[in-house]
This record gives sequence, structure tokens and C-alpha cells, in this order.
Amino acid sequence: MKLAVLGASGHGKVVADTALQAGWQEVVFFDDAWPALTENGVWSVAGDSRCLMESLAEFEGVVVGIGNNRIRLAKTRELLAAGAAMPTIIHPRAVVSPLAELGAGCVVFAGAVVQVDSRLGHACIVNTHASVDHDCRLADGVHICPGTTVAGLVSIGECSWIGIGACIKQLVQVGRDVTVGAGAAVVTDIADGHTVVGVPARPV
Ligand SMILES: CC(C)(COP(=O)(O)OP(=O)(O)OC[C@H]1O[C@@H](n2cnc3c(N)ncnc32)[C@H](O)[C@@H]1OP(=O)(O)O)[C@@H](O)C(=O)NCCC(=O)NCCS
Repeated sequence: MKLAVLGASGHGKVVADTALQAGWQEVVFFDDAWPALTENGVWSVAGDSRCLMESLAEFEGVVVGIGNNRIRLAKTRELLAAGAAMPTIIHPRAVVSPLAELGAGCVVFAGAVVQVDSRLGHACIVNTHASVDHDCRLADGVHICPGTTVAGLVSIGECSWIGIGACIKQLVQVGRDVTVGAGAAVVTDIADGHTVVGVPARPV
């Protein structure tokens, strides 16, 4: 089983390492910095995104390993439209409820938890040791950073970025393209496009 990862970044390395631990046998990177960039850690970079599009048939799966939410989502949608198989990559020591739903190209890293009846769109990241509790709704392209706690019944709009170690109170609605600063405690709804920081979180 051979996986292509688009985006030879640090985040991409975690995707690759997680995939190998989850049972994929080989990982090959693609990145638009190729041919200047030829390796990412122990993995090789085989070409740019055009090369990837031309060699989709060689891979059982493709995942986008790009941290930027908007770019990751756009590339994921392009690959889906081209007919790429886009699996979810779940670390063997993450806990994902069989009653949760994860969209194409989602990644769930070591120690993370996704609880019952939560639904994640395409290209979401549940990073190391983050948790998404029951009945949450995460739209496409959301990134839950390491150590972040999302309580039950929270909804998070497209491409929002929930910073490292933040927590979000139950039932809160976070808009699209929101940035939540590291360590923030979100206790009220956040409108689209806002950046909030602090305890309790306030717009900056
Ligand atoms: C919120 C954030 C996006 C703001 O970044 P920025 O626009 O570059 O802001 P700056 O660093 O210029 O800081 C602006 C002000 O906000 C404050 N601030 C920044 N981040 C803050 C945070 N998380 N909590 C509280 N205050 C914060 C700064 O101290 C500064 O205050 P000052 O004007 O009184 O000096 C960023 O600091 C942050 O928290 N990012 C999350 C990082 C993360 O989770 N990474 C994980 C990667 S997997």
C-alpha cells in the first residue's frame, strides 16, 4: 500500500510517520518546491503537484500534508475532483469512535480522541493529543492544534484554526476562517474571520 503526501513540510512528516504506523507500507512526497527540494526527513520528494496528478494511478491513497487550511482544502478538493482516493489517516494510538464520521483526507495524530457522533468534513487535522468530544461539527479544512480540547456539541466553521492548548466550551459556535490563539478559553460564539486570544477569549 503506497501513499502519496502532497506537501513536504514538518506537518507532512507527521502525516507520513502516522500513515506508516497505521499500516501503509510506503510514503512518497510531492511538493511544488521540487526539483530544488528532493527529500523530507527520511522520505523522498518525487515531483511537484503536476507530477502527482499524472501519477495518481500508482498510489492507493493521497493525503495533503499542508498546514495552511485554505491551501490544504483547495488541493484536497482538486485531488477529489481528479478522482484520487483520499483516505483518513488515523494513528493506532488515537481513539476515534466508530460512530464518528471523518471526511476525505482527515488526519488524526497520536493520542488524539474523536468522540461519538462527531462529524468532520474533508481535510481536517486533529493534531497530537487534541480531543473533539461528542456531537461536534467540524466543517472542511479545520485544524485542531496539539493539546486542544473541544467540548461536546461545538460547531467550527470552514478552515478555522484552533491554536495549541486552547479549549472550547460545550455548545459554542465558531465561525469560518477564525483563528483561536494558543491557550485561549473560548466560552462564547465567535463570528467569521475573527482572531481571539486569552482567557476568556476576546477578539484582537
Ligand atoms: C493568536 C496568534 C495567531 C497571533 O499571532 P500574531 O498576529 O502574529 O500576533 P503577535 O504575536 O504579533 O501578538 C499580538 C499581541 O497579541 C498577544 N498574543 C498573541 N498570541 C496570544 C495568545 N495566544 N494569547 C494571549 N495573547 C496573545 C501578544 O502578546 C501581543 O500582545 P501585545 O500587543 O500586548 O504585545 C498567535 O500568537 C497564536 O497564538 N497562534 C497559535 C499558534 C499555534 O497554535 N501553533 C500550533 C501549530 S500546530
